[in-house]
Amino acid sequence: MSMMMKVLKIILIIILLFSMKDVLINGQGKDNSFSKPSRIGVFWHSFFSRVLMGPFYQSYFNQLPLKGNEKVLDFGCGWGAEARILAKKLCKGGRLACLDISPQWIAETKEVLKKYNNVDYYVGDIVVLNIPESSFDAVCIHIVLHDIDVNLRPDIVKAIARIIKPGGHLYIREPLMAERQISASSIESLMNKAGLLERSVKFKRSFWYGEIVEMVFEKKGE
Ligand SMILES: C[S@@+](CC[C@H](N)C(=O)[O-])C[C@H]1O[C@@H](n2cnc3c(N)ncnc32)[C@H](O)[C@@H]1O
Repeated sequence: MSMMMKVLKIILIIILLFSMKDVLINGQGKDNSFSKPSRIGVFWHSFFSRVLMGPFYQSYFNQLPLKGNEKVLDFGCGWGAEARILAKKLCKGGRLACLDISPQWIAETKEVLKKYNNVDYYVGDIVVLNIPESSFDAVCIHIVLHDIDVNLRPDIVKAIARIIKPGGHLYIREPLMAERQISASSIESLMNKAGLLERSVKFKRSFWYGEIVEMVFEKKGE
């Protein structure tokens, strides 16, 4: 095949992937949600996050101020992309807990993390799961909140705040989507109502997600 044909093929694949961007990012499951992914959805998101999005995850999670001995919850762990980085970071006696509403994603994350023995798993709704109060030093919410119905968010955020130790932190990164009612001020308001105080906010741009926000919150001390 001539060089010209090869280049043309690559360009066509890029155009195809780009035209599918919204479908691929916004969900593949029967109900168009991330929680019930199709098999192609599982395959695509694993490939997407590990290969195409590797630097997007690495750069964010590697700069989190974790010493390695903390207890951290990855809320909405999905296909385990950030969990792999976190499990490695928590190698100095720390523990990672991966929580997802979807049994399929938890199964995928377990497969991805099978070589780590510092990981626990929770499947289901954090509002009803009986996780002990003040049991985590930090919680990460990565590209999850915008996927949750706006009416469910207050109870979910309160349940998350409940399990963070006083003085502990919540790290959140979300795409800003007016149509999903997710903005930096709506996140701040939800967190404040749950007793979490904003410590930092950064606005960035991502090729896949457009405008994103990275925020850090701290749970009020006793
Ligand atoms: C867009 S994915 C992000 C996955 C992962 N955090 C990442 O950045 O690669 C959103 C994830 O949140 C999960 N999710 C949605 N609603 C949830 C809820 N109420 N509780 C826990 N997980 C939830 C979905 O099942 C899905 O795995």
